[in-house]
Amino acid sequence: MAQRIFLAGAAGAIGQRMLPLLRAAGLSVTGTTRSAAKAESLRAQGVEPVVVDIFDAEALSRAVKATRPDVVIHQLTDLPKNLEPRLMAQAIPRNARIRSEGTRNLVRAAIAAGARRVVAQSIGWAYAPGPEPHAESDPLDADAEGDRGITLRGVIALEELTLQSPPLAGIVLRYGQLYGPGTHSAQPSNLSPVHVDAAAHAAVLAITRGGPGAYNIAQPNQHIATEKARRELGWNADFRIAEENA
Ligand SMILES: NC(=O)c1ccc[n+]([C@@H]2O[C@H](COP(=O)([O-])OP(=O)(O)OC[C@H]3O[C@@H](n4cnc5c(N)ncnc54)[C@H](OP(=O)(O)O)[C@@H]3O)[C@@H](O)[C@H]2O)c1
Repeated sequence: MAQRIFLAGAAGAIGQRMLPLLRAAGLSVTGTTRSAAKAESLRAQGVEPVVVDIFDAEALSRAVKATRPDVVIHQLTDLPKNLEPRLMAQAIPRNARIRSEGTRNLVRAAIAAGARRVVAQSIGWAYAPGPEPHAESDPLDADAEGDRGITLRGVIALEELTLQSPPLAGIVLRYGQLYGPGTHSAQPSNLSPVHVDAAAHAAVLAITRGGPGAYNIAQPNQHIATEKARRELGWNADFRIAEENA
């Protein structure tokens, strides 16, 4: 079992649900936030906090090097709380920048710090139109235009950086639409939903399990196939954290 984890986005929806699982696994976790107040909350959750912006490449590299992590986990997104429709148009390019420039900074920092593995959050609704359910080997929608085109360019950059940055072994988790504590929805409401606890569990399993590559992570649905995650990560969509352990 890996000993040291650098978790970028420890205060986010998935990051928060990963913390009890990482604690239970006995892992030592350094987690990022941009906020001093959230850093104190992370410390109270047993995490060594680092206040850093992903776009500050030098500060990020120093922070990752100081941790000497075995595994770096990328759970950063820049989306409005509750996916507030009024704010989404501005969020799309910001989120794409996190995926391209942010991932590049994080992967470079991980390599410089001697990490051996990187696990990154992607999305399960980026496939090009074609027969469903989509397997991970299906092409992404690289020709998309408009807002979807901006999102797709970010997703493709994130995935290429994660999967093609030797000597790192890269794992991309293509999540369906989140629901549950800390997310925009209490109940599954989309085409390929995934509970945030099960999403967090997939990222924890990927610390030690699964060959490099992409994995669809969603409840059984007609749009994306999830056999690979169940087979190679031992992932189960029904996984939940007992509230007394959260
Ligand atoms: N697959 C999905 O359906 C999916 C995936 C992710 C999010 N969401 C939705 O998006 C909404 C927001 O979720 P969330 O709070 O987890 O996500 P979030 O706040 O957008 O992102 C997660 C983390 O990214 C960090 N971050 C953002 N920009 C950063 C930067 N420039 N440098 C360093 N860190 C940065 C934030 O850290 P700090 O604020 O602590 O600095 C935050 O904790 C929710 O409604 C959620 O359900 C959906």
